[in-house]
Amino acid sequence: MYNSKISGLGFYVPDNVVTNNDLSKVMDTNDDWIQERTGIKERRHVVKGSGETTTTMGVKAAQKAIERAGIDKNDIDFIVFATLSPDYYFPGPGVLVQRDLGLDTVGALDVRNQCSGFIYGISVADQYIKSGMYSNVLVIGSELHSHGLDMTTRGRGVSVIFGDGAGAAILTRETDVNKGILSTHLHSEGQHAEELSLIAPGMGKRWVTDILQDNDPADESYFPYMNGQFVFKNAVVRFSEVIMEGLQKNGLHPTDIDLLVPHQANLRISQFIQKKFGLADDQVYNNIMSYGNTTAASIPIALTEAWENNRVNPGDLVVLAAFGSGFTWGSAIIRW
Ligand code: UT7
Repeated sequence: MYNSKISGLGFYVPDNVVTNNDLSKVMDTNDDWIQERTGIKERRHVVKGSGETTTTMGVKAAQKAIERAGIDKNDIDFIVFATLSPDYYFPGPGVLVQRDLGLDTVGALDVRNQCSGFIYGISVADQYIKSGMYSNVLVIGSELHSHGLDMTTRGRGVSVIFGDGAGAAILTRETDVNKGILSTHLHSEGQHAEELSLIAPGMGKRWVTDILQDNDPADESYFPYMNGQFVFKNAVVRFSEVIMEGLQKNGLHPTDIDLLVPHQANLRISQFIQKKFGLADDQVYNNIMSYGNTTAASIPIALTEAWENNRVNPGDLVVLAAFGSGFTWGSAIIRW
């Protein structure tokens, strides 16, 4: 039996910074509202026509993670790619990464778990490594939200929150079972599937031929929908539960946490969790102020940044936790 450890991390965000004031020029919003309700000051948006996609950003993040892991790209045994904004409806971006990185014909799996996607992704990778099947798995979380947002006042409750970017991790076999990923915990509650969703272009709603015929610009089902307050209330409960579940599974307590890296959904959610677990400011890593909510990319971006800023050190207990659309939520307990 093995454990898996995170041996390399990388992230990539587009250069184009979009401030709250920039958004107030295209919709009825303002810096005060956005900062007070979400903590976000700015986010990155891919520039139209730049050719950047969810996959290209994911590849850039992956290249950094591979380099930092000190492995050759041909040592990668498997790819897991988490996103809600794939380049194509199908195939998913996993195979595009296999192609663009020039890897051998390794397996590529796409994860459709939105904000929890990266935690689901590392959980899958961890099981492959624990079982001895693979030695190095590349896990990517990447999102290109900006092309799909309603950038008018109609969409302001959602569109000001999300940003573009990608993060990646290499999970590598670890022979010391007291190190690396100690456990992961995954949950779902599909009863609330539509409370945070993008209904179109799913096949459940209409025939594609009808959609093409209707071509209705007033059709909001092509934009993400979020019942903000309902999602918020569920998030604070599930975040707390799944962090506690992970700690208890390992005989640990909130006081053992060195660094909590929560999915960057809303600064107020992170602050609520911080208070609930009695953590100091330096025990929680937040960067939603700079990047907004980048969904499946938010944890690997934040974890990479924390690592780059020496906030993660050998022996530390690092806790990752996420909640989002599905609803799905999860946690990972890591001894660095
Ligand atoms: O990552 C996945 C998980 N996501 C989350 O966990 C997000 C959870 N929810 C949230 O973060 C918050 O609910 C939001 C930030 C989305 C919204 O904050 P809120 O405090 O729940 O505001 P609200 O939706 O209740 O809206 C309050 C008011 C409304 O106006 P009225 O009806 O009170 O007149 C909105 O129309 O704020 C208005 N509003 C805005 N005003 C300026 C909504 N969006 C905006 C905006 N700028 N961008």
